[in-house]
Amino acid sequence: MRQRNFLVFFSASLAVIGVGIASRVMGQSATNAPAPMNWTAEQDHQNMMEQLGIKSLRPGADARPGSPHYQNTNEAKANPYPNLPDPLRLNNGEKVTSPAMWWNQRRPEIVEEFDREMYGRVPKNVPKVTWDVTAVVRTNNGAIPVITKELVGQVDNTECPAITVNIQLTLTTPAEAPGPVPVMLEFGFPPFLQRRINRLEGTNRPSRFGMYRYGPDWRQLVLSNGWGYAVIVPVSYQADNGAGLTRGIIGLCNKGQPRKPDDWGALRAWAWGASRALDYFETDPAVDARQVGIEGLSRYGKAALVTMAYDPRFAIALIGSSGEGGAKLSRRNFGELVENLAASGEYHWMAGNFLKYAGPLTPGDLPVDAHELIALCAPRPVFISYGATWGKPGAEGPWLDQHGSFMAVVAAGPVYRLLGKRDLGTPGNYLTDPMPPLNTTLDSGDLAWRQHDGGHTDAPNWPAFLKWADRYIHGPMPPR
Ligand code: GCU
Repeated sequence: MRQRNFLVFFSASLAVIGVGIASRVMGQSATNAPAPMNWTAEQDHQNMMEQLGIKSLRPGADARPGSPHYQNTNEAKANPYPNLPDPLRLNNGEKVTSPAMWWNQRRPEIVEEFDREMYGRVPKNVPKVTWDVTAVVRTNNGAIPVITKELVGQVDNTECPAITVNIQLTLTTPAEAPGPVPVMLEFGFPPFLQRRINRLEGTNRPSRFGMYRYGPDWRQLVLSNGWGYAVIVPVSYQADNGAGLTRGIIGLCNKGQPRKPDDWGALRAWAWGASRALDYFETDPAVDARQVGIEGLSRYGKAALVTMAYDPRFAIALIGSSGEGGAKLSRRNFGELVENLAASGEYHWMAGNFLKYAGPLTPGDLPVDAHELIALCAPRPVFISYGATWGKPGAEGPWLDQHGSFMAVVAAGPVYRLLGKRDLGTPGNYLTDPMPPLNTTLDSGDLAWRQHDGGHTDAPNWPAFLKWADRYIHGPMPPR
């Protein structure tokens, strides 16, 4: 499967980066503080199992045909837990009937459950970030003159000098903007990997990694709307592997020691970094910080949804191919499973407590599910994007469970309606609402959906997203 090849390459590249970051900081251990723990992901994972008193976990699904654990792709077997937690019912059983009840009672309950059981808590002692503009480059992107600022967010590490954390960020705004501009912030790849992806995507044909290039680059589309764009590099402040959990921003807060079961995982840490970028935008006169959107693909699509759910300052979101742990219902049995996220290759995205749901508990025991993560974004506009089911070269496989995400968007609708907003515009039954055909945008509401046929990328959905986003976000100059 081409898509799997890309994902393997992507994961491997990030692992290399993570190791690079780890070995840089290891040389700087403070003399009188214990050195950061130097475990493998497997050792850290085992430690978390011991903290939780778990002896074994159920195996995850496998995307390789012929495997004894081959993923389920049969829709008839996909809903072993068809009942979802009701986002509009308090834990004491009372129905939520007003926006005030949502904001003051139900929403905090849902946040607490996501914090404790799924994504983990951001510690109270996260050190301060100081942003420095390290370079300002005037150039053109296509025909549009732009100013690009390279930034580093230095995290105060006086409490644990052995761990250095620097957030990498670039911000590009139109040079001739008559005022502060809206900005789309992307969770992106380190520049060397991004250059490679640009080259592959620029070929206008299916690449080795199963991606197509459709139309102009998203950055140019955003610029021609009169907006700016920014890219934050998540692995610059939290490695994409379990071995890195005692380093990066998570490790810094724990002074290099292992996580507790409700400590934050990488998704929550990546989202924290996006919020720190937004802190910077609030100080930059080139940016209209009330109109900043967040976007990411795949694991970064998960991070983008977590960002939007937790930080109400983000105005709009494009959530790309996020799958399990993102916009997809964890209660589904289709493609990737909770058990995959709980295994040593991916558990670092989540809180340690999440492991419990892969043994002894089941996904049906989760107190929350993806529809409630989407509901936490309400009333702000969210566009959920995918790149087609299997059957075409380069198309996304069943692994991502596009239908499970569609169901979650439908099931988030009641919260949007309670807050006076529009749902997806389908009949509203998550079990029976049909998904629209490929390349058809559902954009009549404040929740939007589109599945293109161009593979594991957001590229073909950017124009549809921007058309819809135009209803909410307004630049200081008319679009070109
Ligand atoms: C793997 C993983 C997915 C993830 C994807 C990616 O396929 O199982 O959950 O979204 O990698 O981020 O590339």
